[in-house]
Amino acid sequence: MCVIEERPVIETQRLTLRAPAKADVERVAAFCVDHEVARMTTRMPSPYTRGHAEDFVARCGTQDRSRDNTFAIELADEGLIGVVGLFTNPNGPVELGYWIGRPYWGRGYATEATKGALDWARGVWNKRYVTAGHFADNDASGRVLVKAGFLYTGVVEHKPSIARGAVAATRMMVWLA
Ligand SMILES: CC(C)(COP(=O)(O)OP(=O)(O)OC[C@H]1O[C@@H](n2cnc3c(N)ncnc32)[C@H](O)[C@@H]1OP(=O)(O)O)[C@@H](O)C(=O)NCCC(=O)NCCS
Repeated sequence: MCVIEERPVIETQRLTLRAPAKADVERVAAFCVDHEVARMTTRMPSPYTRGHAEDFVARCGTQDRSRDNTFAIELADEGLIGVVGLFTNPNGPVELGYWIGRPYWGRGYATEATKGALDWARGVWNKRYVTAGHFADNDASGRVLVKAGFLYTGVVEHKPSIARGAVAATRMMVWLA
């Protein structure tokens, strides 16, 4: 069994990945109110409120870090610009999820944060593979996952998206350490 630091911090070239804090609530709410962010995730409600952001930060503070690790993605002089998380599914594998606030799209931040989280998962958490899935209409996320080293498994699952109020075809991928 691997012992996880209570509050792991990951440094990448431009970003710091660290535990979400109460001071992040405003920025989380501001970015996640954007339906184009929420609709690409399974779990984010829409419309997204400040209360949802408060609940999110509180839940992160009580995570069992041997199973789940959510990181705020922080850009120096800006603050939180997104979130990346690694979660242990009830059926075993660790799954990756992330979002970036719309003002910061297209600058490689999701890819950089994902690579940082995977390096940590391999080196500190001792994980040998990580799964991820993106909705079939989210090509940008597919690019992020491919750039970070994920491969398509060929499996398409149908996952509910709370923000869409519908099930969406989800292309499953895997990353091997
Ligand atoms: C998907 C998301 C995380 C990408 O974040 P980002 O920081 O812009 O990602 P990066 O800059 O690292 O890489 C984006 C890649 O997607 C590409 N891309 C952007 N829009 C695209 C589109 N409509 N179709 C195809 N590729 C697209 C970019 O060109 C880039 O690839 P490239 O480097 O090969 O040119 C961000 O848009 C987001 O948070 N979206 C909403 C939430 C979400 O989708 N979360 C993931 C759920 S699986």
